[in-house]
Amino acid sequence: MERIAVIILAAGKGKRMRSSLVKVLHPLLGRPMLSYPLEVTLGQLRPEKTLVVIGYQGDEVRVAFPDPRITFVEQQEQLGTGHAVSVTKPLLGDFNGTILILCGDIPLVRPQTLRGMLNHHWGKEAVLTLLTSHMEDPTGYGRVVRGVLGGVRKVVEEKDATDHELEIKEVNSGIYCVQAPFLFRALEELSSDNAQQEYYLTDIIEIAHHKKKRICTFSVPDPWEIMGVNTRAELAKAEEVLGERVRRHWMSEGVTIKNPQSVYIEPDVRIGKDTLIYPNCYLRGKTSIGEGCRIGPQVEIVDSQIGDRVQVRFCTLITESRIEDDATVGPFSHLRPLSYLEKGVKIGNFVEVKKSRIRQGTKANHLSYIGDADVGKGVNIGAGTITCNYDGYQKHPTIIEDGVFVGSNTALVAPIKIGKEALVGAGAIITKDVPPYALAVSRAKQKNIKKWVIKRNKKMEKERRRG
Ligand code: UD1
Ligand code: CA
Repeated sequence: MERIAVIILAAGKGKRMRSSLVKVLHPLLGRPMLSYPLEVTLGQLRPEKTLVVIGYQGDEVRVAFPDPRITFVEQQEQLGTGHAVSVTKPLLGDFNGTILILCGDIPLVRPQTLRGMLNHHWGKEAVLTLLTSHMEDPTGYGRVVRGVLGGVRKVVEEKDATDHELEIKEVNSGIYCVQAPFLFRALEELSSDNAQQEYYLTDIIEIAHHKKKRICTFSVPDPWEIMGVNTRAELAKAEEVLGERVRRHWMSEGVTIKNPQSVYIEPDVRIGKDTLIYPNCYLRGKTSIGEGCRIGPQVEIVDSQIGDRVQVRFCTLITESRIEDDATVGPFSHLRPLSYLEKGVKIGNFVEVKKSRIRQGTKANHLSYIGDADVGKGVNIGAGTITCNYDGYQKHPTIIEDGVFVGSNTALVAPIKIGKEALVGAGAIITKDVPPYALAVSRAKQKNIKKWVIKRNKKMEKERRRG
């Protein structure tokens, strides 16, 4: 078994992002960029050591990744990628295996590529292997310079390249496998005599060439895979590529996605087969959606669990909630955290639910607020029903037992309990508990004054004639 240690470079500020947040913490599909190279290495390669070189906003980076398998190493001054690797020497100076170096700003590389690269490196008994690709437009990348016989001679940074070298389409990904002893010896020979006055890691390639060490390349056919994120535009492009991978995965698992480019799905989301996702949906966080559901268009679901055959219709927002099978939500509904809809519940337009359990088969179809409530089975919540859960100081619960009928435009002033099968007449303001099977009416008695309108009209006519 070959020994592997991983170094991920993440100390730079990322000047070209023009951000007050360090580049590697910028999110891609809701996760910091650095989590991608970390996941492919920690999850798939199981290295002996994983070192992350931090510097700019290093404490923030540490806090974002509280994983005991990671060792953070500080690079106090950002003097270049070569210098960044050299700060790991106290921890890896005696290591005798292969070091895999990655950058925190290369989020799209896939685990099978790294595996392939390592196997190639070991199979060829190389001292140094570079991951490369051919790009139509290589702007911004270091170019791989080869000799007449095709062997790699060096990598030249764009800012240092001659016009001839700028023509080269083979680019350096910034991902390397290196034999550890060679790496640390070569790093001692670096100089900062170049356009950016930095210690370039890429210079170890020319050093290896001079020392006649075996240098190999491992090329990825799809150049997007090694894309580096230096600017906001590249951040957007990387998210697009990752998003496409996630959507393709769910489509291959039997999910239909209409106008896929418009649908945003984060990597931890799970979706069951034969579910249909309409355009402009945002499925975020640890959301799971069952089979045979219809979601959207224009729906946002965050950290929520949704059963089978659920319909979530137009313009609905659901956060930290749970919805059981066969329920319907929307259009224009808002489920705030800790809403729990049991099987077959119907929540309709302009209904907001917060921290409430709504039991089997209950309906709240129009214009309601249900907060801090426990609503029984088979309840009908009339249009415009409001649980008045807040007295300005505290939140209070509302309990509505099974089979209750709440008439329209009712205010339920909590704490309050409406007993089983009770009926609340429309327009009520309920401040006292309603016993089971009772009718609760709370409204001013209606009075009809006969012919009042005719009398008023006559009076007005008289006044007009008088002038
Ligand atoms: C680097 C490579 C270039 C390659 C490109 C691929 C060098 C000199 N150039 O250029 O050949 O084509 O990546 O994307 O290596 N970092 C530190 N400390 C430092 C400087 C950088 O930790 O002192 C980290 C950054 O946070 C970043 C990574 O190293 O994650 C790469 O640095 P960056 O400045 O983005 O290098 P590029 O100019 O993209
Ligand atoms: Ca970069």
